[in-house]
Amino acid sequence: MEYVSVKTLHVTCVVVSISLFLLRGALQGLGRPWRNSRVLLVAPHVVDTVLLASALWLCWIIGQYPFVQGWLTAKVLALVLYILLGRVALGRSTPAARRWPAFALALLCVGYIVGVALTHSPTWGRF
Ligand code: HEM
Repeated sequence: MEYVSVKTLHVTCVVVSISLFLLRGALQGLGRPWRNSRVLLVAPHVVDTVLLASALWLCWIIGQYPFVQGWLTAKVLALVLYILLGRVALGRSTPAARRWPAFALALLCVGYIVGVALTHSPTWGRF
């Protein structure tokens, strides 16, 4: 597959992944039992796997790699943080008072990642 197709796949996964995260957060906030939905349990894992695979594929196509280029290192580290915060935000055993701060921080992380992706810079081209 060529560059444009893989990038389209990557960005599509990004949009779907964020949408699924927002949906689960909203359902959780409304007290709806989203874990009863097989689709909402399984789809995020499938989408995030394809997101990561397409990310690595793009790295290979453009010849730039995490822990070599700073902007890709920043993306990977922020992705790990996003996953951890997402787990706290949506975790069954997380106290209610911790959910929303974790949810908001997870969204900040993903916003940061999009900024890094667009600027190819860990500082968004500033400083
Ligand atoms: C939630 C996580 C991620 C988000 C939100 C995200 C977002 C994006 C976006 C919006 C683009 C398109 C940028 C443009 O139009 O120029 C992009 C491209 C790209 N992403 Fe990601 N990404 C994520 C994870 C990753 C990870 C973990 C890696 C590295 C392992 C990665 C590697 C790349 C590469 C190499 C490109 C192509 C850059 C280029 O065209 O020059 N992404 N990403």
